[in-house]
Amino acid sequence: TARPRLFSGMQPTQDSLHIGNYLGALVNWVQMQESFNAIYSVVDLHALTVDVDPDVLRQRTRATAAQYLAAGVDPAKSAVFVQSHVPEHAELTWILSCLTGFGEASRMTQFKDKSAKRGSEGTNVGLFTYPILMAADILLYDAAKVPVGEDQRQHLELSRNLAQRFNGRYGETFVVPEPHILEATAKIQDLQNPTAKMSKTSPTGTIDLLADPKVTAKRVRSAVTDTGREIRFDEAEKPGVSNLLSIYSALDGRSIEQLESDYDGKGYGDLKKDLAEVVVGVVGPIRERATELLSDPAELDRILAEGAERVRPIAAATLARVYDRVGL
Ligand code: ADP
Ligand code: NA
Repeated sequence: TARPRLFSGMQPTQDSLHIGNYLGALVNWVQMQESFNAIYSVVDLHALTVDVDPDVLRQRTRATAAQYLAAGVDPAKSAVFVQSHVPEHAELTWILSCLTGFGEASRMTQFKDKSAKRGSEGTNVGLFTYPILMAADILLYDAAKVPVGEDQRQHLELSRNLAQRFNGRYGETFVVPEPHILEATAKIQDLQNPTAKMSKTSPTGTIDLLADPKVTAKRVRSAVTDTGREIRFDEAEKPGVSNLLSIYSALDGRSIEQLESDYDGKGYGDLKKDLAEVVVGVVGPIRERATELLSDPAELDRILAEGAERVRPIAAATLARVYDRVGL
């Protein structure tokens, strides 16, 4: 029987991904390519909702793809492609926009948060229709499963509603996607502000996959820890130490309980020194492989073109079905 199709992607909004992206997403992508027919996209159209220099965007798109591959996404198993190389994404977005209520789109909490921060003059309509483009990404490929974190749940719900609405009005056309809930996915916090999620917007609280290993080690060693000295997992009382234990456990395979017992009687300094080595041991080779891939952009572009060629017929067939159904 055919493997269920799965779609996921990241925006090329920075050169480097961080260890939250790696442990929260990429590690799972690499596992899921064994049991799913996986499609992994660098969603560059989504990245246009903020002002970005064209050359910078091009560079970030390649860098993001290189990090997918360097982390272990295998283009022989999964399709890896750049969203804008498949124009059907933008075309389906228009059709789905015409099925989306203005009020419905206005209720998306991510839009409300981001537009409140940017103000109405600083907010473009692309930010508003972003979840509809995301629905198109998923529905184009008849994806049965979409791995989603908490922050994307409402957007996936919109994708499901749009699929059901279209099917109800025009007849069975789209697969209604289900969330793929990842058990025990690491949620990584900012190293300098461990009560907040590690995010590319935090200047020094990230561990970046493309950073120099010396910088990486220093970031780990200067992570904020908590008062007291006991190495114990307690997110409420000891968010800093708990975050370090989560990262440690996710990278090294030892359970948190095992780590607590191994570090019994030792200090925060010991924990951070060892963790810095573990992090550099995992991130270092990813950085090397990504750097190698980026040193040969023609080969990287060839891999991405091949990925687009693999998925384009699926997208084109879906769009043809949709156009036919709606009378275009
Ligand atoms: P950011 O939060 O840095 O803007 P994105 O929203 O682009 O990152 O996230 C890309 C992927 O990485 C998503 O699947 C997201 O769930 C995951 N991710 C991002 N930050 C973290 C984190 N701190 N811990 C775990 N997973 C994360
Ligand atoms: Na985010």
